[in-house]
Amino acid sequence: MGKQLWALIHVTVVILIIVEVESSLHRVGGGRYSWNSDVNYSDWANHQRFYSGDWLYFGFNRTRHSILQVNKSSYEQCVDTDFIFNITRGGRDVFQLLEPKPYYFICGRGYCIKGMKLAINVLPQPPPSAPLTPTSTAFTLIPLHAFTAAILTFVFKALIL
Ligand SMILES: *[C@@H]1O[C@H](CO)[C@@H](O)[C@H](O)[C@H]1NC(C)=O
Ligand SMILES: *[C@@H]1O[C@H](CO)[C@@H](O)[C@H](O)[C@H]1NC(C)=O
Ligand SMILES: *[C@@H]1O[C@H](CO)[C@@H](O)[C@H](O)[C@H]1NC(C)=O
Ligand SMILES: *[C@@H]1O[C@H](CO)[C@@H](O)[C@H](O)[C@H]1NC(C)=O
Repeated sequence: MGKQLWALIHVTVVILIIVEVESSLHRVGGGRYSWNSDVNYSDWANHQRFYSGDWLYFGFNRTRHSILQVNKSSYEQCVDTDFIFNITRGGRDVFQLLEPKPYYFICGRGYCIKGMKLAINVLPQPPPSAPLTPTSTAFTLIPLHAFTAAILTFVFKALIL
């Protein structure tokens, strides 16, 4: 499959995540292209609040950087050989924080030692602050599902071509 099609799928997945899920999407490092060696990720994480179900977005140059989920000791010692999950795909990659627990991420190829490492503590999902009334649910949910269905149809057509 072509590069453009993969890019389309990536963009679509990010749109679907934003539209369909009530969870937040955290852009790691803050900017658009910010999984790199210039960011203090402890400082960034200290100013965020992560809940189970939230997503992380990593934007990076994949010829130089990668993103691996590791355990605590591998995070502390920058060991990239025996990771839990390799998140690296196209350089605009997402990861869902499914459980309330600490998560650890590092960059491979020696960049972890230079500071490209991220530790976060995920909290349990808080109760919804403002429950939707039946009327607003009916008005908001139906168009969202129709929108999603339209996007999925578009992607599947593109995949077949
Ligand atoms: C990153 O920021 C934290 C404070 O959030 C600070 O303690 C630490 O020294 C900083 N690290 C570097 C390498 O500047
Ligand atoms: C990505 O990294 C490679 C290798 O270091 C470099 O040649 C290239 O210019 C970078 N691309 C961007 C868009 O920064
Ligand atoms: C963490 O992963 C390393 C390999 O990177 C492994 O040797 C170690 O036993 C693991 N530690 C825990 C507590 O699972
Ligand atoms: C992670 O996946 C990327 C893309 O599939 C690959 O290029 C890279 O070598 C993998 N990293 C490790 C440490 O296996």
